[in-house]
Amino acid sequence: MEHVNFTQMKDGTKEEYEFLTAHEIDYTKGTADRLLHALEHLDEGLSGYQITRLGHSAQAATRAWRDGADIDWVVSALLHDIGDIFAPYNHDEYAATILKPFVREQCRWCVETHGDFQMLYYGQHLEGFDQNKRERHRGAKYFDDCAEFCDRWDQTSFDPDYDTLPLSFFAPMVRDVFARKPYDPEVTQAPDQPLTVPQAAAERGIA
Ligand SMILES: [Fe+2]
Ligand SMILES: [Fe+2]
Repeated sequence: MEHVNFTQMKDGTKEEYEFLTAHEIDYTKGTADRLLHALEHLDEGLSGYQITRLGHSAQAATRAWRDGADIDWVVSALLHDIGDIFAPYNHDEYAATILKPFVREQCRWCVETHGDFQMLYYGQHLEGFDQNKRERHRGAKYFDDCAEFCDRWDQTSFDPDYDTLPLSFFAPMVRDVFARKPYDPEVTQAPDQPLTVPQAAAERGIA
């Protein structure tokens, strides 16, 4: 079968839907590379900052890596702003939706809410913005993690002089994460991990 015969979904047969499912599974194997490709497009986005959005993303991931953070954190840091491309008004939710089947809940939550937490650093300068928007999440299980995520990796990562690792360094990690079984409770419900692991940081060459 090269393609299905139906033109309305209700007319499809079991064989056709099995054929389509096999196709979809095949397609999902390319998710990691499509995301890496999209990250490259972040380089073309309008900026005004001293570094591009790709530079910012790679720098956030580099800081996570050098803090000794685990792969879920590093990949989440790398992809946390990928929603800027298509969802400028809820880029955090967009990125979290992409990550949700493949990283633990702790990381998903922090990516999903980081936009509110980031306002701490600039909300006071802009009309209509609430510097303390993150307070609506006070008491949430991952409040402190998200505050640290933003403080250590996000708001710091606009420095053109920082020694940022290239996207290619992180590509194998992205492929590993998106090759996981989606929604595997062993992944999504895995125990929380600290953002900084001094021993791992030391082993990676920078203490
Ligand atoms: Fe962001
Ligand atoms: Fe960011």
